Amino acid sequence: MQPKSVTVRVPAKINLQLGVGPLRPDGYHELVTVFHAVNICDDVIAEATASGAGISLEMVGEASVAADATNLAWRAAQLLADATGVDPDVHLQIHKRIPVAGGMAGGSADAAATLVACDALWRLSTERAELARLAATLGSDVPFALHGGTAIGTGRGEQLTDVLARGTLHWVLAIADEGLSTPAVYAECDRLRAQERVAEPVVSESLMQGLRSGDAQAVGRALANDLQSAALSLRPELGQVLQAGDDLGALGGIVSGSGPTLAFIVADEERALDLAVGLMSTGLVRSVKRAHGPVPGARVVNERW
Ligand code: C5P
Repeated sequence: MQPKSVTVRVPAKINLQLGVGPLRPDGYHELVTVFHAVNICDDVIAEATASGAGISLEMVGEASVAADATNLAWRAAQLLADATGVDPDVHLQIHKRIPVAGGMAGGSADAAATLVACDALWRLSTERAELARLAATLGSDVPFALHGGTAIGTGRGEQLTDVLARGTLHWVLAIADEGLSTPAVYAECDRLRAQERVAEPVVSESLMQGLRSGDAQAVGRALANDLQSAALSLRPELGQVLQAGDDLGALGGIVSGSGPTLAFIVADEERALDLAVGLMSTGLVRSVKRAHGPVPGARVVNERW
């Protein structure tokens, strides 16, 4: 017997460190990154449909994302069906809260959630390691959206190792109206570094220490993103917002992934509220969200029978 529907919740990510190595022959960059999952989550609902109906997709309240076979969630459902030999009959509903093209891996999150939701809907019980392998073929950030927590990513970002992290970190996110294209930001990074010899990145020991001891101040000081100059080059106005966050007492501020979302770390929820209000009152920011992490990766939160 098959459930009528399965709901999976999946978190957004921030990169606490994003070390970008040289461009590889396959067009990707060798990364050393520290992923951190925060409680800004999309929900993906996989609904049973008639046999032979195929895949359909609905973006609930989000017109800017194509709801067709190019969508990473659609591709995830197709991939899982192909890998396991089942008919890909499912209606997917994506309830978006993760900013689109914001540097928080929202599209990757939806793909990871779809793998978990279809696996449950189709009663496949696929091993987690196999889901992670399939996830990596969909995109560099998809395995982490499955995994959640705080983890080091190497390779393209798809090879994950857990990080020992104590306590909860509190964040304020400044969300831009218009997204940035990840390939465009990587290309700008290559352009800015064209005259430099690019070293292989290494994990920041001061960041690891800050995470181990749950010291938000130390984490704030250690935040580092090699894509930040590129994102600021494409969006110079983000520099003013980073400065405003600093002036308003954030413990650290960083471009999230390829941007344009900015992530500011603060000591606690109260400071988060103060900073959120402060950033809005500068007039530089149209929207802010408060968040905390780490939180778990894609997981089933509801099944209807
Ligand atoms: O893996 P994903 O499809 O999410 O990557 C999107 C784009 O980001 C790639 O096409 C590439 O331009 C860039 N990228 C990269 N190096 C990585 C990950 C992503 O250059 N390690």
